[in-house]
Amino acid sequence: MASLITKAVIPAAGLGTRFLPATKAMPKEMLPVVDKPAIQYVVEEAVAAGLRDVLMITGRNKSALENHFDRVGELEATLLQKGDSDRLRKVNFSTDLAEVHYLRQGDPLGLGHAVLRARMHVGNEPFAVLLGDDLIDERDPLLTRMLQVQAERNASIIALLEVEPAMANHYGIATVEPTDAEDLVRITGLVEKPAEGTQPSNLAIIGRYVLRPEVFDVLERTRPGKGGEIQLTDALQELASDDSIAGGVYGVVFRGRRYDTGDRLDYIKAIVQLAVEREDLGPDLRPWLKEFSDGLD
Ligand code: UTP
Repeated sequence: MASLITKAVIPAAGLGTRFLPATKAMPKEMLPVVDKPAIQYVVEEAVAAGLRDVLMITGRNKSALENHFDRVGELEATLLQKGDSDRLRKVNFSTDLAEVHYLRQGDPLGLGHAVLRARMHVGNEPFAVLLGDDLIDERDPLLTRMLQVQAERNASIIALLEVEPAMANHYGIATVEPTDAEDLVRITGLVEKPAEGTQPSNLAIIGRYVLRPEVFDVLERTRPGKGGEIQLTDALQELASDDSIAGGVYGVVFRGRRYDTGDRLDYIKAIVQLAVEREDLGPDLRPWLKEFSDGLD
């Protein structure tokens, strides 16, 4: 069944405190992963899944985001003059990629609050939410699968990843029931960052969602939760607890390649993983990396 969804919402208004001081004057979504800002991978993923209408929820320092998806006349003219068509193509690619809209969150009151700000733009139709913290390899089209499931089940869909038990307190964690599809589970409960040893499963929510618009009504009444923030997970827990509100919540269990750029160590790993696979960098990086690691204790 084909999806009729056209809109993607990308919250990019968090304070990015784990990356200070790099994020003092720019959003963490603009941090480069090899040679592209994280947000560009995410917009490319949305477009590849057929979603060209992109709403970014921005905070302070939004100009870097806007500039990245806009023309830069002086740079283009210089590259043109030099005959550097390869780099010119790269510069223009992000400009022409999607129809990008911007909306300020105001105070960064949490991911749930950022998503709620999209209500007017989205209207009364299902939509996707993509977080810049999680990069999904383009060879493993998770979002396309989620859109397909949404069209079939007419529910809200989240993406789940099996994590080590010791990591569960970093994520929203799901309680699930199997369905007739091998990669699909029905969500019966969700808890944000459970205390160590109390997690109901090892299935963690990662940053891709396809949501029914009823989530906005729930978010309107969702009170601050973990960390004093309005949590999207809490609103989804309400949708999951009563199928009659909006068809319940299903989880697609993702087993493909995902690169976590949310904290410093994982960010460094993501860059290395992606760079070794690149045709232009991998052949030189791989032998150097081997030699470097041999030299470590
Ligand atoms: P995070 O909690 O990972 O982002 O939110 P953060 O708060 O910026 O990170 P640290 O912990 O301070 O380093 C997940 C996603 O939700 C967005 C963030 O930009 C990120 O993409 N977000 C979070 C908002 O847009 N608004 C918020 O109020 C909170």
